Amino acid sequence: MRSETMTLAVNGTTHVLELPPETPLLFVLRNDLGLNGPKYGCGLGECGACAVLVDGRSVRSCTIAVAAVEGREIVTLEGLGTADRLHYVQDAFVKEQAAQCGYCVNGMIIAITGLLNEKPEASEAEIRGALTHQLCRCGTHMEILAAARRARDTVSARLSAGGECA
Ligand code: FES
Repeated sequence: MRSETMTLAVNGTTHVLELPPETPLLFVLRNDLGLNGPKYGCGLGECGACAVLVDGRSVRSCTIAVAAVEGREIVTLEGLGTADRLHYVQDAFVKEQAAQCGYCVNGMIIAITGLLNEKPEASEAEIRGALTHQLCRCGTHMEILAAARRARDTVSARLSAGGECA
């Protein structure tokens, strides 16, 4: 595979990298940029562990080529919040203790963030729809749903009060 110069905007920082354009975005994030929030699960676009936000929407970084996201805004779990100031979806997951092994949590948080970016007052059906293809093998589904509802309630209350999402 021939390398090309690629420019990626990740978590607010611009990176110029020499890469084959068909390289999966997940490999670039983890191997070249050291961002280990997105996880390698199935590598086939089926489990959601590798999810990241591209222009605010959740995508599976294991099946999207790096060339397809050049010039677009990529946000990983690391770019959502900080240890001192959690993103409201991260905060909801902590408050609901919505993790066992934790491997799926990146994908769950990104999927819910992507949904609430578009639909801050998402219905129960929309929340469940956003999580349908996010796999959790520990059976933490009830806590994850509770976290998603808590995040939805937080952001919709903020917007009703005239605040911002994040
Ligand atoms: Fe990307 Fe499973 S690792 S969807």
